[in-house]
Amino acid sequence: MDEMRAYPTFWGTERSRREGPSHRACITFQLTLAAVFTVLLITAVAFAVQAFQPHPQLCAQCPFDWVGFRGKCYYFSEDESNWTSSQNNCSALGASLAVFDSTEDLSFTMRHKGSSPHWVGLSREGEEHPWKWMNHSPSSHLFQVQGDGLCAYLGDFGLSSSHCSAHRNWVCTKPALQNPRKNFCIST
Ligand SMILES: *[C@@H]1O[C@H](CO)[C@@H](O)[C@H](O)[C@H]1NC(C)=O
Ligand SMILES: *[C@@H]1O[C@H](CO)[C@@H](O)[C@H](O)[C@H]1NC(C)=O
Repeated sequence: MDEMRAYPTFWGTERSRREGPSHRACITFQLTLAAVFTVLLITAVAFAVQAFQPHPQLCAQCPFDWVGFRGKCYYFSEDESNWTSSQNNCSALGASLAVFDSTEDLSFTMRHKGSSPHWVGLSREGEEHPWKWMNHSPSSHLFQVQGDGLCAYLGDFGLSSSHCSAHRNWVCTKPALQNPRKNFCIST
């Protein structure tokens, strides 16, 4: 009789001993799952709301007639002028003759300039002086300038130099407008 009574007690204690920690683990797991699911749901809703909002600023980072590339806007002139007058033209548009930060900028303008040479914002005070960009930063070794002129332009084979009084097309650059949704903006 003692044994008969002992069994339920034994099973009971055994079960509650097993159920205690595993039940708690199960609740923890369910709570974690619920939390992860809630976070995912909130993220999904946030994305959906954003996607359906009107975005008139989309891809309007550069003025009409300018081309955007890597955070800058580029203007390729139709007129031709000497280097100083070209810079004045860019300046009148709130820009400067083109400044390159990377070789990608150089290849980009090379692709867009067509067949005519274009002045860029790179000059030097004399043949023995270093090349400097319009923003006063010295030109890195990445940009080799051919020729012995004091003003640089984009030629068919990269950067070249000549007398500053020569008449050429020109390229201006200015920073692109900050667009919070620029990840969604496709620029050329
Ligand atoms: C812009 O360039 C033209 C020549 O193409 C020149 O006549 C004009 O004066 C320039 N404008 C400025 C503001 O320098
Ligand atoms: C550049 O052009 C402008 C306007 O066309 C002129 O006034 C100026 O003297 C020229 N400068 C050089 C260095 O040729």
